[in-house]
Amino acid sequence: MIEKINDLLARIEAFSSTDAKEIEDFRIKILGRKGEMNDIMDEFKTVAPELKRELGQKVNQLKNRAIARIEELKQQAEEKAMATPSSTIDDMSRPGTEEQLGSRHPISIVRNEICDIFNRLGFTVADGPEIEDDWHVFSALNFPPEHPARDMQDTFFIEKNPDILLRTHTSSIQVRTMEKQQPPIRVICPGRVFRNEAISARAHCIFHQIEGLYIDEKVSFADLKQTLLFFAKEYFGENTQIRLRPSYFPFTEPSAELDVSCNLCGDKGCNVCKGTGWLEILGCGMVDPNVLEANNIDSKKYTGFAFGMGVERIAMLKFGVKDLRLYFENDKRFLDQFESAI
Ligand code: DAH
Repeated sequence: MIEKINDLLARIEAFSSTDAKEIEDFRIKILGRKGEMNDIMDEFKTVAPELKRELGQKVNQLKNRAIARIEELKQQAEEKAMATPSSTIDDMSRPGTEEQLGSRHPISIVRNEICDIFNRLGFTVADGPEIEDDWHVFSALNFPPEHPARDMQDTFFIEKNPDILLRTHTSSIQVRTMEKQQPPIRVICPGRVFRNEAISARAHCIFHQIEGLYIDEKVSFADLKQTLLFFAKEYFGENTQIRLRPSYFPFTEPSAELDVSCNLCGDKGCNVCKGTGWLEILGCGMVDPNVLEANNIDSKKYTGFAFGMGVERIAMLKFGVKDLRLYFENDKRFLDQFESAI
């Protein structure tokens, strides 16, 4: 065994290289899991007890020396690589490497553009947590206890605690805002929301919403309509028309759905607007007095409107992207196609 140790030691001392790959191969051959050092260790287990002390020391020395030698060689190789000028650097006429400029994610582009339009109307951006409780997502927004949105089918609960959940809409930020502030309130609330849905081209379990809330004295449905008309024209173009269809949300009364005229086909009917000439883009309504009262705002003195829209949906309309999943895959070939000013 002593010969084996001496032989390996001699080979370690003799080995020399400045090539990183060669050094690594050598390291694996000696110190790797199936390397020579391991064979020696195995053999060491079988030596007679009276020889163990002396041989043990030698084996240890050998191992330490092997580690140190490889480290030494690695460092020399690195120093050499740094000191060697790259052969291409002298050729000043070579084209330079192109600067890769990043671009914003399309969802961020659309979110920023939408927030920017409402900022110009005096709305400020408000934020809230993604992990919420029942009160902020449902109860304070006038959801009856048996409302299906509270169901396990739709909502992700945290650790089976029915009180703690991932917000299913950014309307929860309305509640957070009303808690902190008395009217006048004028906020726009972008954020991620979560719903327990099967992922497909048209649905995802994570998506983005933008919520708007305006509360003051004498806020009317006409204010809501005018605000949304302004937004639609700013975002989809000066000739855009809007229409409001009656709808239902627990937190607004009356409630409506907003359609904008299809700017892709100029109202004639295409497969995006399914031949109707109209695109549904958001839900809205007058804040239900129950919501104001639940949040300690005097519903006799104040009225308000709210609206909420899905960012992915608007981005799909804007960019003609037909599969929602593309927004979440972070495929560079997809992302590289977007440029943004904001
Ligand atoms: N929270 C609703 C949803 O997730 C969207 C919405 C509709 C928000 C009407 C509103 C509103 O503020 O008034 O589908």
